[in-house]
Amino acid sequence: MSTASVQQSHGIFAGECAPVYRQRQEVIDGMRKVYRQVRRGDRVDLDAVEQWVSGLLDAVNADMEMALWVTNLRNPDDYPYVHAVNVCVLTLGLCHSLGFERGQLLEIGVGALLHDIGQARTPTHILDKPGQLTREEFDIMQRHPEDGYRMMLAAGRLTDLSLAIIRSHHERIAGTGYPDQLTATAIATPVLATAIVDVYDALVSDRRYRQGLPADVAIQAMYQNAESNYGRELMQAFIRFIGVYPVGCVVELDNGGVGLVVSAREHARLLPRVLLIRDADGSFLEQRRLIDLTEADTTGGWYVRRVVSSSDLGLDVAAIIRAECLLPG
Ligand SMILES: [Fe+2]
Repeated sequence: MSTASVQQSHGIFAGECAPVYRQRQEVIDGMRKVYRQVRRGDRVDLDAVEQWVSGLLDAVNADMEMALWVTNLRNPDDYPYVHAVNVCVLTLGLCHSLGFERGQLLEIGVGALLHDIGQARTPTHILDKPGQLTREEFDIMQRHPEDGYRMMLAAGRLTDLSLAIIRSHHERIAGTGYPDQLTATAIATPVLATAIVDVYDALVSDRRYRQGLPADVAIQAMYQNAESNYGRELMQAFIRFIGVYPVGCVVELDNGGVGLVVSAREHARLLPRVLLIRDADGSFLEQRRLIDLTEADTTGGWYVRRVVSSSDLGLDVAAIIRAECLLPG
C-alpha cells in the first residue's frame, strides 16, 4: 500500500471529537433528567430539549461522519438515553438526506429524541427483561407511545409532527403496528424514518442481556420485511444514508486485517477509511493506523471482505473510540 494512505494514530480524532462528544454527553445526561422529571410527574424542560436538538442538528450539518462516529459510544447501562440521542442524530441525518429543511428537521428531532418518553413510566423489570415478555407485559410495554403522546400533548408545546413521531413510531405500513394500526399513507415519512432508525439502533446496540447484531446483519434483516414495515424505498434511502459499511462497524479486510470504519464517501462506499486495529499478520496494533482504502493497494488485500461482530473478536468499540478521541472513561 502507498505510505500516503497510512497515518499513525495517536488520539487521532481528539480535536474534532471532543466538542461533539461533550455535546452528546450533555444531551444524554439531560435525557436522564427528563426521564426523572416524567417519573416524578414534574414539568419536562422542553426549552432544554429544543436547544439540544438544535445543537445536534448543527453537529450533523457540520460533520456528519463525526456525528455518526460518536453514536457508536453505546453503553448498555445508559441504554434508554443513549438510544434516544442516537435515534435523534440518525433520524436527523436520514431526513436531511431526504431533503427536509431546518424547521421540519427541528420538529423531527424533538419527536425522535422524545420518541420513547412514555417508557419513563414503563416498569424497568419489563424494559430490561432478558427473555420474551408475557402477553400482559407486552400489553404494558405497548402503552408507551400513547402514554408519551398524552404527556407531551398535555405539555402543550410540541408540534403535530413531533407528537406523531412519539405516538406512531411503532406503526407499520401493513397495519401491523401499534397503537392505532395505521397503514401506508396515514404514516408520515419522518415517522417511518424514525421507526427505521429506532429498530436499527436497537438491533445493533449491546444490551445487558445480549450482544448487538453486526450492522450488515441488522440491515439485511430489516430489508427483508421492509415492504410491509417501512416501505422499500425509504429503507433503501436509509441504506444509502448509513452506507454498506456504516461508520463504527468492524470490518475484516481480505488480507486478514481488522478495522473500524471511520468514513465512506458517496463515490467510494465499498472502500471506506478504516482505523486499523489488527494488522494483516494478525497482531493487534498498539498504535492504530488510519487507512484510506481508496488509496491502498487492493492487490495486497487492502479491501473489505466482510463485516464482523465486535464481540466475536472481543473488541470494545466504545473503548477504542474513546481512546482515539482521548475521551474520559
Ligand atoms: Fe418505542
